[in-house]
Amino acid sequence: MEAQRLDKYISSQLAGVSRKDARELIKRGKISVNGAVVKIPEQKVDPSADAVSFGGRQISYKRHLYIMLNKPAGVVCATRDRLSETVTELLPPELRHEGLFPAGRLDRDSVGFVLITDDGELAHRILSPKSHVPKTYFVRLRDVIDPKAAEDFSRGVTIDGGEECLPAELKILSERECELTLHEGKYHQIKRMFKSRGNKVVYLKRIRIAGVSLDSSLKEGQARELTDAETARLYDR
Ligand code: URA
Repeated sequence: MEAQRLDKYISSQLAGVSRKDARELIKRGKISVNGAVVKIPEQKVDPSADAVSFGGRQISYKRHLYIMLNKPAGVVCATRDRLSETVTELLPPELRHEGLFPAGRLDRDSVGFVLITDDGELAHRILSPKSHVPKTYFVRLRDVIDPKAAEDFSRGVTIDGGEECLPAELKILSERECELTLHEGKYHQIKRMFKSRGNKVVYLKRIRIAGVSLDSSLKEGQARELTDAETARLYDR
């Protein structure tokens, strides 16, 4: 595995510790490598071979972090925003790490599963329309759902501006409620798909990404790390 600077390693592995904090901890003699205190932030460590400890406790190395957040309405899918609270700002201190970002966007008024990670490669795969990773939404509509919509969506509809959508699966749950699975993520896609049928989305919640379901015990605003089995499922796609 590639060696990295000690301060970078520390800030990537310890929650709530910035690069600046990490340099401070190192200079104060709180960090040891293979049993010896190291006071040089630039020193290189090999995560797969070196044992790094903080305050006498060994840090178990995690290459990446994968977090499931149940996003509330009113919060934006970004790391920083001048006006609104962001999904990374909602994370509890024990899940805050350098380099985290939301892998994909939900509109400000949409709720549900947002994957937050520092794994750029996985995020790219999940987001790329070429990889067709399924994302499922629970949708509530203003008007009764046209039964023909399922067939139309399965063929791929054209939405305003002439954009063609990939085939999507619609499962009607009741007169005004359904689940819709997309394999891409165009801007306001579901709202625009239903608008093209003369209907209007009044509530939108993402409930599944690539076969991983939103944990129903997470209240809006709560987050937890993905289990190893859930992470493996994301990688399977
Ligand atoms: N489609 C939308 O219209 N909005 C979302 O937030 C997600 C999918």
